[in-house]
Amino acid sequence: MSHPQSLAWQRLSAEHLENWVDLLHAAYASNLAMGMNFTAATMKTRRGEQFLADRLVWGGFTQAQLVATFTLRHNEEGWHLNLLAVRPDQSRKGYGNLALSEAEQRALDLGASELLLDTADRHPWLLDFYRSRGYVAYGQVQKPGKTYRSVLFRKLL
Ligand SMILES: CC(C)(COP(=O)(O)OP(=O)(O)OC[C@H]1O[C@@H](n2cnc3c(N)ncnc32)[C@H](O)[C@@H]1OP(=O)(O)O)[C@@H](O)C(=O)NCCC(=O)NCCS
Repeated sequence: MSHPQSLAWQRLSAEHLENWVDLLHAAYASNLAMGMNFTAATMKTRRGEQFLADRLVWGGFTQAQLVATFTLRHNEEGWHLNLLAVRPDQSRKGYGNLALSEAEQRALDLGASELLLDTADRHPWLLDFYRSRGYVAYGQVQKPGKTYRSVLFRKLL
């Protein structure tokens, strides 16, 4: 991994909607091409609006460009990390690692002691990526309408 520039993080809101949804579509297109229909790959603007309203959405910027994003949300199971994404033309520069670290720190700041996430069981490298970052698989679920099984991961922060 090369040493990435640091990113300037900020909470995203409705004014970032179009930019954010464009980033999600671009980043998740590779998953869609492999037959994995992650929600973000085809997220409609209306759904994006709901996400921005219902959960905490962060964007990482270099100068004015949105390069990376993740969301945090809380429910009865705990804190969930979702929609981790990096612009494809900026991939493999370490921004994904930076975004994951940022998400973990933000979750800690929110009082979380554990972070939950899930990913596709048949993705070629995401399972190893999360394991390498200390996430431990604790189950699998078949979410309605998804073309893959979701592996559930957790990490004590
Ligand atoms: C996952 C994602 C955020 C990683 O972003 P990134 O900036 O490329 O990640 P990094 O450069 O920090 O790399 C982190 C590690 O991921 C793994 N990785 C990233 N891209 C990879 C690829 N194309 N092939 C194999 N491993 C890869 C490597 O282990 C890498 O570490 P290394 O470079 O030290 O080997 C990015 O690929 C993305 O947006 N993917 C589409 C959306 C997605 O699938 N999100 C996760 C849903 S659960």
